[in-house]
Amino acid sequence: MSETRFPILRCILLAGAALSLTAPVLAAAPQAAKPWLNRKLGTEARASALVAAMTEDEKLQLVRTWFPPFAQGKPGAPTDMVPSAGEMVGVPRLGIPTLRESDASLGVANQVEQRKGDVATALPAGLATAASFDPEVAYAGGAMIGSEARAKRFNVLLAGGVNLTRDPWGGRDFEYLGEDPLLAGVIDGAHIKGVQSNHIVSTIKHFALNSQETGRMVADAKLDWTSLHESDLLAFKIAIDQGRPGSVMCAYNLVNGDYACENKELLTTILRGDWGYKGFVMSDWGAVHSTAKAANAGLDQDSGAELDKMIYFGAPLKEALAKGEVPKARLDEMAKRVLTGIIETGLYDDPAPATNQPIDYAAHALVAQKAAEEGIVLLRNEGDMLPLATQAKRIVVIGGHADVGVLSGGGSSQVRSVGGVPVEIPLKSGPAASFARTTWHNSSPMKAIQALVPGAEVTYVDGSDPAAAAAAAKAADIAIVFATQWRTEAEDIHNLTLPNDQDALIDAVAAANPKTAVVLETGGPVLMSWLEKVPAVLAAWYPGQRGGEAIANILFGKVNPSGRLPITFPVAEKQAPRPAPVNLAAIEANDAASNAGSAGAQAAIFPIEYPEGANVGYRWFEAQKEKPLFPFGYGLSYTHFAYKNLKVTGGATLAISFDVTNSGARAGADVPQVYVAADGQTARLAAFQRVELKPGETRHVTLTAERRILSRWDDKARGWHLVGGRYHVALARAAGDAALTADATMTDQRFRP
Ligand code: BGC
Repeated sequence: MSETRFPILRCILLAGAALSLTAPVLAAAPQAAKPWLNRKLGTEARASALVAAMTEDEKLQLVRTWFPPFAQGKPGAPTDMVPSAGEMVGVPRLGIPTLRESDASLGVANQVEQRKGDVATALPAGLATAASFDPEVAYAGGAMIGSEARAKRFNVLLAGGVNLTRDPWGGRDFEYLGEDPLLAGVIDGAHIKGVQSNHIVSTIKHFALNSQETGRMVADAKLDWTSLHESDLLAFKIAIDQGRPGSVMCAYNLVNGDYACENKELLTTILRGDWGYKGFVMSDWGAVHSTAKAANAGLDQDSGAELDKMIYFGAPLKEALAKGEVPKARLDEMAKRVLTGIIETGLYDDPAPATNQPIDYAAHALVAQKAAEEGIVLLRNEGDMLPLATQAKRIVVIGGHADVGVLSGGGSSQVRSVGGVPVEIPLKSGPAASFARTTWHNSSPMKAIQALVPGAEVTYVDGSDPAAAAAAAKAADIAIVFATQWRTEAEDIHNLTLPNDQDALIDAVAAANPKTAVVLETGGPVLMSWLEKVPAVLAAWYPGQRGGEAIANILFGKVNPSGRLPITFPVAEKQAPRPAPVNLAAIEANDAASNAGSAGAQAAIFPIEYPEGANVGYRWFEAQKEKPLFPFGYGLSYTHFAYKNLKVTGGATLAISFDVTNSGARAGADVPQVYVAADGQTARLAAFQRVELKPGETRHVTLTAERRILSRWDDKARGWHLVGGRYHVALARAAGDAALTADATMTDQRFRP
């Protein structure tokens, strides 16, 4: 990517562009002459029939998308672009729709307001949805976003980010789904399924090993293929199996020496070969570096092609076809894969509407609120400080702009939410400056608290002066500090300390009032030097458009917290596999010097080693015998849960059953987790379930361990090997915990991916 993403002036000009999607023109000829219209034929035959009816130029039309801010007026560019991420020109004579692409997983994005005044419902961060451990919440979020996308005439949602968090400071950790392949895969699969229930295409991204934002366009991620199959690739595979996304987006970075978007091992051997994936591979924006190499490696569509050094899949591809450097059959296959995504998701038979449709934003806000309420994690609750008493007379809310809203993460996933933006801080420099701003959603925790305790005096101090905040805390019955840490795509944070001296603020407030609660609005883990001094701590992530209400409901017990950490919180940065973002200083110097605005676009390729292999996150902590501040899977409730009667049976599959009882006085949800380890190996999450229980209620739960989690990848045989023998099973409340244990003997087995 050699240009900034959104030149502001262009965006403003484009914002008013006339927008009408031409309905596909389907002539009234009999179906026999147009076999692609015959739904009974199945996707493969229909896609092949369409390809056979297309000219070479029409096929070439399908293998690139235009980047609206730069494409306007260029020869061949669509004349009716919706300002957004990208657009593929359709073939009306064959009913092939124009593809209109929008970001992403947290809502229909409108990053720097390319579409003036266009708002959408903002879900909480992906980490919050993952923290729910609830595929139903993920599905509901996906279905909601997909319906808004369709109503705004988008038919490809660039959602589905599932890169595993390998480093706790990753700029996009908030967008993703944590560090565990099973949890991330299951949640992502449900989200994608929800998106596509609207007959639009979802992607899954960024394939693969895009674990660091610093230098993301030149970082060469190094990890042996076996470990990759057992970790990051497994998350993709589980999500693809469950969500069946129409497309896969390849990543910016290199993987083991080749750019991800021209990496034959990834795109052909694994995705098409091992996994039999039939949809299309689109590049990330500005991630293409060649014509013949990329096409022959398995890339089907060059996204936002104006962001590349040249339009690789334009005239150069036509030339490469003429010279035989790319076989014509390969172009056929590329077009067929794009069409497969379009047909398989139902888009071909049910194209997006020609005009914007009404959206029930009030109903959608409830989807966002439920996701936030299920995703907030209660980390600490000494002396049962929470839930707060509704009789409290004086409550002081401190910091984080909690008087007006809640923080959101930056980058391509940024949604301009319903209700507007109460605080917005433009970036002056750095790789994210052209497409990210620090913004708050209009959902005031303070107002939500006031609504729950109308009899109390609720005041706000901004926290910029710790002494003033401490004085206000002293004069109150309860102090609630809102601590924030902003993250954005294209940059990693430098360390895990809360920025702007917020630790000192929390120290001062906690010293002034022992009844202090801290609410963290962060895009991942933070260090908590003050933890022992603060009785109550909530991890609220970026809680989305109804975050204020969700936080207040948890604080006052209207909702019983049930979130579990999808990511390990370390005691110190040095516990992570790498001490800091790799090559941080050099990349920042390069970006500053070249003003590339693109996370290392002009810098030289550099390696990132991942010696932890498949031991990502909590498994790294176990292997290193390190104790985290809070482990993966951890989260408290206002009630208690007891486990009994663990039974495991081995053989071909590992079945686990047990009873879980709500032994407290409130209704609540628990997330029993099953970790399995072979002798000498780290334990892996092999099954989990969110269970809602009334006070005193007992549920008998039966789970089946995910077989691939128990198995080793055999790269030569290109399949899984579940090595027969004894496996240790722990029914646990978090990684490293073992409430009940048992052993099972598994039969030796090999199976296809
Ligand atoms: C991001 C993708 C995004 C694309 C289009 C890229 O910079 O990495 O996740 O979908 O832009 O906006």
